[in-house]
Amino acid sequence: MTRITTKKLAIGMFQNGRARQTWAMSGREDESNYTDLEYWTELARKCEAAGADFLFLADSYGYPTLNDTVIPTAIERNVQFSTVDSQMLMSALAAATKTLGLVTTVSTMVEKPPMVARQYRSLDHFSKGRIGWNIVTGSAQAGSALLFGEPLMPHDDRYALADDHVQLSLKLWEGCWDDDALIRDSATGIWADPAKVHEIIHDGPFFSSKGVLVTPPSPQVTPTLFQAGASSAGRELAATYAEAVFLAAESKALAEQIADIRGRAEAKGRGRDAIKCLIAGTFRIAESEEEARAAHEAQIAGISLEYAAATYAYFTGVDLLSFDLDRPMPASTAKTDNGRTNVERFLGPDAPTVREILEEFRANGVMGKPFLGTVEQAVDQALALIEETDADGFLVQPDPDGSHDMFFEKVMPELRRRGVIKDELPGATLREHLFGEGCVRLPDSHPGAAFRRTGVLV
Ligand SMILES: Cc1cc2nc3c(=O)[nH]c(=O)nc-3n(C[C@H](O)[C@H](O)[C@H](O)COP(=O)(O)O)c2cc1C
Repeated sequence: MTRITTKKLAIGMFQNGRARQTWAMSGREDESNYTDLEYWTELARKCEAAGADFLFLADSYGYPTLNDTVIPTAIERNVQFSTVDSQMLMSALAAATKTLGLVTTVSTMVEKPPMVARQYRSLDHFSKGRIGWNIVTGSAQAGSALLFGEPLMPHDDRYALADDHVQLSLKLWEGCWDDDALIRDSATGIWADPAKVHEIIHDGPFFSSKGVLVTPPSPQVTPTLFQAGASSAGRELAATYAEAVFLAAESKALAEQIADIRGRAEAKGRGRDAIKCLIAGTFRIAESEEEARAAHEAQIAGISLEYAAATYAYFTGVDLLSFDLDRPMPASTAKTDNGRTNVERFLGPDAPTVREILEEFRANGVMGKPFLGTVEQAVDQALALIEETDADGFLVQPDPDGSHDMFFEKVMPELRRRGVIKDELPGATLREHLFGEGCVRLPDSHPGAAFRRTGVLV
């Protein structure tokens, strides 16, 4: 058996506001019940009962496009296509749960900082401090830009914009209200102390602002900050601001990515352990290894190359089917202005052929290789990857039927038996779940802390 990690792993549960990709494989018509609020509240309750740290709902306005138009296979097969608005679900999930962390994505390309600041602060109040923001520059940017009637912004400029966005959001969260600014004294009629509520001033390369976030401080003040997108620019953004990052398990370079993020965070004075690195973990378990492998292969057999190509186009904007399948992708794809994580990982000296990339996407999608076998084997593999990569936990992908039931029934108890997950979630807030009791606010080493109580900021 693998050497058992001494860490207490963070366990986040992944779902997608999109209709589940497995809908046709489950053989159940009711698999598309993702438009029912009840589906989501029940999912959140199950995550809470199982003791997960948080539920994460991924989101994007983008969908697969090529040559400025939606890919028909994406519509026909529902490849990264139909969705509901994840953020809209959050207050319902806050009402349905008491301890579970709740994380969702808003792309910095879509909503402006005062909107993001107000929404997440409101949600942090409603959930009593259990909210996290997954900061992305957005998957499928080509589709999203077309939808919003905007030109596609170059990749690294989007990350420069994200940096400016987060700076302003942090100023609004951390810089507007002193801790004792809110008075609410009905005898004197004083709501708040004007000397302790500050206007922030921001004059950045992409956003300008002079004003106040009028929603008073919530338990975490700043929501717990997550980040996804492992291109070089993405890792820099993570190292600067993120408290947790989502990384695909597929990448041969996972250990390097994690070491790079930790190194960059350390260079910024945040410390190597300032960021929880969470691996997108897929568990495919059965009574025997053969059975698990056969079920996984049956699932792969239901996925066409066109489906895999549409998925790839969603994440990269690259049309794999336009290339020679028996050669590597042209190096020019590195300049794609869509997401780069899934281009960068298939270029370089050991570059696979296009056919191999398509096969990888058929078999493992974007999240990477599953942990496969009996529950003991799968957990051994998962813990070995934690050891190899120095990661801090998992963002668990759904079971083949779209639920997390198998994970909760089999894998969670095994993780618990091995003593690698928390018996009880520390603290009441999401940040405490991840960093320990008392860690409610951003640590002093985070750049957001510099915006506290300093009056007018420039
Ligand atoms: C586990 C995981 C979850 C992700 N969730 C989202 C998401 O909700 N929305 C999104 O636009 N991108 C999400 N991404 C990131 C995209 O895949 C994509 O890499 C990114 O948005 C573009 O950045 P890049 O150029 O750095 O790749 C996720 C990635 C991973 C590994």
